[in-house]
Amino acid sequence: MKVLVTGGAGYIGSHTSVRLLENGYEVIIADNFYNSSPEVIDKIEIITGKRPKLYECDIRSRDELRTVFKKEAQTGEIDFVIHFAGYKAVGESVEKPLMYYDNNVLQTVALLEVMAERSVKNLVFSSSAAVYSTSALEDLLKKHPSGISEDFPLGAANPYGRTKLIIENILRDVFYADKSWNIGILRYFNPIGAHPSGLIGENPRGVPNNLLPYIARVASGELARLNVYGGDYDTPDGTCIRDYIHIMDLAEGHIAMLSHLDGLSVYNLGTGRGYSVLDIVKIFEKANGIKVPYKISERREGDIPISFANSKKAERQLNWLAQRDIAAMCKDAWNFIKNKTD
Ligand code: NAD
Ligand code: WQD
Repeated sequence: MKVLVTGGAGYIGSHTSVRLLENGYEVIIADNFYNSSPEVIDKIEIITGKRPKLYECDIRSRDELRTVFKKEAQTGEIDFVIHFAGYKAVGESVEKPLMYYDNNVLQTVALLEVMAERSVKNLVFSSSAAVYSTSALEDLLKKHPSGISEDFPLGAANPYGRTKLIIENILRDVFYADKSWNIGILRYFNPIGAHPSGLIGENPRGVPNNLLPYIARVASGELARLNVYGGDYDTPDGTCIRDYIHIMDLAEGHIAMLSHLDGLSVYNLGTGRGYSVLDIVKIFEKANGIKVPYKISERREGDIPISFANSKKAERQLNWLAQRDIAAMCKDAWNFIKNKTD
């Protein structure tokens, strides 16, 4: 089976490509390296012993996409597309919304059009916990202590989240108009960690926005200390709680989704457990034997106190369950950062 992985050189795409190759899929990566580098392809080959095919292309370009599908068809049509390509920084999306609507929404429309032209109608889409409405979340979680389930109210709080919600709605409309599509929408919670080899992982450019990459830079001495955004939330230790999921578990969620693609379906991928920012600092320190200096600072605008998934639907229907614990996530994240050469 041939899988086109858009954004396959990126953080989640590269780990998923590893698992796809290890599960016998043929992997075709299409990426413009906006937020990744071609060396990732070599690393995937070192890990798996198999080299994914690479097209350096912009998914927004219908012509470039048509070329990929046409060239591939010479050796057999693409069977599935996993669509990771896009921008993902919440803060940047507030400052540059059009850039996000262009590269997330319009890009996906181009991809869907070219897929339809080729009658390739099996798609897995990277959505996000950012599509859940934040306004009633605290009250809802009190009523539903098993976490955010797929039927919680939707309503993104920032342009990034809105691009994901708009794309989800486009996918529902596409499926409504043509039931021969099979579309799996996966809403990821907070992916962290790295491949245990330390060869691939998350390596954002500039000062990281997300917690784990920031902690890793503090641990390496590149940054002086972690600013913990808010210590006065209504949580046991006053800091925000999130559902962190190991990147390899997330990658495996995609393999499970591919083998269960049937009609249109939506799944949360999380562990169902929440950890606070200070929990993460302590677990990172213990797992790696390294100090992470921190200071409680102002709340970050837009943060919600608690978010964690109810992933029972994926467990029941996809037979998928996150396996790796939070210590392994912190260990693998650090193993990647301490070994990285660039
Ligand atoms: P990433 O930035 O590491 O990977 C995205 C990849 O897409 C990069 O390699 C980038 O170069 C490529 N890309 C971007 N625009 C492109 C274009 N126009 N044409 C071709 N390639 C393009 O991000 P990631 O963390 O791997 O996220 C992958 C997907 O998962 C994104 O859609 C993101 O919104 C979604 N997601 C991520 C998270 C997270 O916390 N990382 C959480 C939920 C959802
Ligand atoms: C986690 C916790 C921060 C950095 C984001 C996106 C979401 C999804 C996942 C794509 C929060 C705190 C962070 C720091 C801190 N991505 N923190 N100091 O905000 O839960 O989710 O990534 O779809 O859409 O919004 O993740 O890693 O930024 O923050 O105290 O320097 O760590 O306040 O409580 P978040 P994060």
